[in-house]
Amino acid sequence: MQESVSVLLSEEELDDKIREMGAQISRDYAGRQVHLICVLKGGTFFMCELAKRITIPVSIDFMSVSSYGNDTVSTGIVRIIKDLDKPIEGKDVIVVEDIIDTGRTLSYLLKVLKDRKPNSIKLATMLDKPDRRVVDDVNVDYTGFNIPDEFVVGYGLDYAERYRNLPYIGVLHFSE
Ligand code: IMP
Ligand code: MG
Repeated sequence: MQESVSVLLSEEELDDKIREMGAQISRDYAGRQVHLICVLKGGTFFMCELAKRITIPVSIDFMSVSSYGNDTVSTGIVRIIKDLDKPIEGKDVIVVEDIIDTGRTLSYLLKVLKDRKPNSIKLATMLDKPDRRVVDDVNVDYTGFNIPDEFVVGYGLDYAERYRNLPYIGVLHFSE
């Protein structure tokens, strides 16, 4: 099998969008501090760029989860591999994701985080595949791009741990 990648969103398009998102968050949270929670590993590239475009005080923390089942079908049963370093009680939290697909992972994660009594909790995602959603309790507050139901890589997103380092988002194609 040969793999090839075609560009879906260029580095410049991503950069422009992330600047807009950072500006919007800075306005929405003016006078406060936001606590960004990055879902490892895919969300790291987006979170770093987003954090750089936010002009109010920012703190960050990381969480790693894995869904049971195989790599391509998410089951919604999620295991916490690495928990946050610090409590989030009283904080204004924004969960930062690379992509929302079925929404199962986030549905679970948001429940877990809400139980820890943050002052507020919102969700920012670089990409969303709305056609794929199977849960109705995941509301996205900040979306970079809505994309069609195709498998994408780059900017943190992987296929078998590869391609995360691409500076753009591309569609992965397979051929004989
Ligand atoms: P969900 O629980 O189905 O929303 O799973 C979302 C997770 O699946 C993301 O955080 C990614 O790790 C992975 N994922 C979903 N779609 C893609 C894709 O197109 N490329 C790479 N990873 C994806
Ligand atoms: Mg992810």
